[in-house]
Amino acid sequence: MDLELKNKVAIVTGGTQGIGRATALRLAEEGASVVIAARGRELLDRVAAEIRAAGGSVAAVQADVSRAEDCARLVAEAVTAFGRLDILVNNAGTSATGEFESVTDDIWQADFELKLFAAIRLARLAIPHMKQQGGGRIVNITNIGAKQPRAKSMPTTVTRAAGLAFTKALSKEFAPHNILVNTVCIGSVRAGQHERKAAKAGIAVEQLYANMAKDIPLGRVGRAEEVANAIAFLVSGAASYVTGTSINLDGGTSAVL
Ligand SMILES: NC(=O)c1ccc[n+]([C@@H]2O[C@H](COP(=O)([O-])OP(=O)(O)OC[C@H]3O[C@@H](n4cnc5c(N)ncnc54)[C@H](OP(=O)(O)O)[C@@H]3O)[C@@H](O)[C@H]2O)c1
Repeated sequence: MDLELKNKVAIVTGGTQGIGRATALRLAEEGASVVIAARGRELLDRVAAEIRAAGGSVAAVQADVSRAEDCARLVAEAVTAFGRLDILVNNAGTSATGEFESVTDDIWQADFELKLFAAIRLARLAIPHMKQQGGGRIVNITNIGAKQPRAKSMPTTVTRAAGLAFTKALSKEFAPHNILVNTVCIGSVRAGQHERKAAKAGIAVEQLYANMAKDIPLGRVGRAEEVANAIAFLVSGAASYVTGTSINLDGGTSAVL
């Protein structure tokens, strides 16, 4: 199926590891020019080289998306590099959970800045370009906990629930401009954050994945490429009537639709 992504320009935040890296590679493979953003220079250069080696077109922008000025520079550099902006994938993020009484204002604030305000600011900066071009796509990565918050799952589940409301409200406001906005709610997917957690706990990452898989109906942790496929569909011509929705990418884990 032709996803109609040739000549499109996509920003993927957190595009150097896990889901973001897989998404950047997938969109580039489909012919989109990709702008990857992350804080670490070394991985930015490495993933950019990987995309170029596969024949893709890429720009790598060092940015901390929890900072307003970095968001503005990211969008400006994307438009300077490729002359337009069609797709925004708000993916950068990390898990932040703890016992409610130990979660300080600073932890709450940092989570909002990284996982909610980054998406708000980048969408506000991207939308004028999308309007000018007659349309665009925004995908906000969230978490299945947004719909089904567990004990000790804050601040992440609260920030992610706001991400769902943001997605829906934005989709309704900008549908007349053909800007389609959706969210992908992630369950458990192989990625850098789990490798770091395993290293911290002193266990092999495969052991961690095996433990996590026990609660997943499909019996395994997902692969970043499986999420990238869903994102590629949502930003493609094949999803031209899909907006304001959420897709659970969780191997069947969530109890809610
Ligand atoms: N993997 C899962 O099981 C899972 C589950 C639920 C939700 N999610 C969500 O899915 C998204 C991707 O997760 P992942 O597991 O693929 O993550 P990952 O492998 O840990 O990669 C995170 C990416 O985000 C970048 N990043 C982190 N903080 C950033 C910041 N302030 N500014 C710019 N870039 C930043 C990282 O690069 P630098 O560190 O160099 O900046 C890296 O490229 C996240 O939003 C995560 O919360 C994942």
